[in-house]
Amino acid sequence: MSILPIVTYDDPVLMKPGTPVHPEHPGLQDLIDDMFETMYHANGVGLAAPQVGHSLRMFVVDADVITEEEENGEKHGPGVFINPEIEILEDDYWDAEEGCLSIPDVRENVTRPFRIHIRYYDRDFQWCEAEHEGWYARVLQHEYDHIKGVLFIDYLGSFRKRLIRGKLEEIRKGAVKTEYPLLSRKPATGQR
Ligand code: NI
Repeated sequence: MSILPIVTYDDPVLMKPGTPVHPEHPGLQDLIDDMFETMYHANGVGLAAPQVGHSLRMFVVDADVITEEEENGEKHGPGVFINPEIEILEDDYWDAEEGCLSIPDVRENVTRPFRIHIRYYDRDFQWCEAEHEGWYARVLQHEYDHIKGVLFIDYLGSFRKRLIRGKLEEIRKGAVKTEYPLLSRKPATGQR
């Protein structure tokens, strides 16, 4: 297994929807193992394939550390979500602070639906569906956004966006230190 570099928010791979994953995708099981290794090494609770440069509809999560405090006491350990579809269950929204391994040192409040229904394939391509709420549902939605080309900072209003502009610029220039390998692939001039 290897630790893969995580691309920064300005990378083109994070701005486009991923393609569906085929069961015979070359190196799929190794990529999943590497994504877990990369996520644990960076102390993340979720990691989407585009964040390691693969434009695929797939993400991994292990949210035990942030969901163990929740009331229903459900365990949310290692999970692989392939070609997922998320549906919002109720008109019930809540705010909480989010961060992202591709946007180090930036944490902002994001409003998200509280309860969701998710359908997906696991790493053995078994069809699964489940309902989730609270923090786990939030993590799943954050990662799901990544495979659609959406980042949590896209939800911020113009005021908050202005406040983090300096920090985003530092990340883009590779001036932010992280405990994990970050890959800042600057797009060609004129592309942004
Ligand atoms: Ni993220």
